[in-house]
Amino acid sequence: MSGLGAWLHERVPISSATLSHLTNEPVPNHMRRWWFALGGTPAYLFIVQIFTGILLAFYYQPSPATAYESVSYITNEAAYGWYLRSVHKWAATLMVAAVVLHQIRVFFTGAYRKPREINWLIGMCLLGCTLVMGFTGYSLVYEQLSYWGATVGANIAESVPWIGGVVKSLILGGDAYNERTLSRFYVLHAAVLPTLMILLIGIHIAIIRIQGVTELRFRGDESASPPHFRFYPDHFFTELTIGLVLMILLSALATLFPAILGAKADPLTTPEVIKPEWFFYVTFRWLKLFSVTTAVLSMGFIVFVMFAWPFIDAWIRRRTRFSEASVWVGICAVMAIVGLTVWEAVVAH
Ligand code: HEM
Repeated sequence: MSGLGAWLHERVPISSATLSHLTNEPVPNHMRRWWFALGGTPAYLFIVQIFTGILLAFYYQPSPATAYESVSYITNEAAYGWYLRSVHKWAATLMVAAVVLHQIRVFFTGAYRKPREINWLIGMCLLGCTLVMGFTGYSLVYEQLSYWGATVGANIAESVPWIGGVVKSLILGGDAYNERTLSRFYVLHAAVLPTLMILLIGIHIAIIRIQGVTELRFRGDESASPPHFRFYPDHFFTELTIGLVLMILLSALATLFPAILGAKADPLTTPEVIKPEWFFYVTFRWLKLFSVTTAVLSMGFIVFVMFAWPFIDAWIRRRTRFSEASVWVGICAVMAIVGLTVWEAVVAH
């Protein structure tokens, strides 16, 4: 052992055998396919977001008087600012898509069932954090749509019975959008939510490490223990390759479709069409289908059912003969989400 190695080992007495045991989790063979190992993709994109977000924060100034101008400076003048902003924007989009696809794969493979209910609950919190990150990030630009999107979002929150008023003034820092609002969004977007997500992702992955991923059995695989491969180097290098491909994809998207800057927010002029980011189309369309209070309460109920699904599913499987009810619920949910999103995307109002 080199002098430095011996020095380090005296202070951190972990042997290379322990290290290789910790990193050599046997991974079930189905995880060779990207579809089953999709959880690594949002983790990778989250790292890209932290890195590009820190660089953007060097220039961004969160106040109504400076926010739009600082984003304009990043986009048009700072060296590679347009690239960093565009990668940040595209990585956010891909991260939402990857989290949703990962959740769909977990759902349809029943990987949330006992003993993995806690990881499903943590996953739901991660989904919520990812969406709120998207909402707060969109609002930071201080364009017309981000200003009015935030105003509409706060008004929707206000329609929640009993607590709505408090939630609205917590979001906006007053009864309406004011000079304190942007700093709230910024603190949430750049400090509170990323810290929470780091903690949640840490616990999520620690639980996966303790429990191992669900062993899936495919038709024709009769063996008591399906084949495995090593985490290091096999899975590690697969994930690394996925990371490189994602980086190329992000660079291509950022170059071909760079983030643009709309008109500056004008609190006195409501835009003719207010649209949120695409991942909120489903909730936006839902809101247009019912009265605000009905829509908000029903959405709250749907979110509750999503959180509680591992327990509801266990109850259905114990008490009824519909052991695969979750598959039908999942198919209906995916069709509803895709249908409402496409509907909102194709109509002007
Ligand atoms: C930032 C978001 C997330 C990250 C970084 C993440 C990361 C991961 C990783 C790396 C795995 C290992 C297996 C795989 O790659 O698929 C995993 C498994 C799992 N995730 Fe996530 N996840 C996230 C969000 C979610 C969400 C939204 C849910 C569901 C509500 C969820 C529920 C689960 C469950 C239950 C497992 C265990 C799967 C199994 O045993 O096969 N995760 N996650």
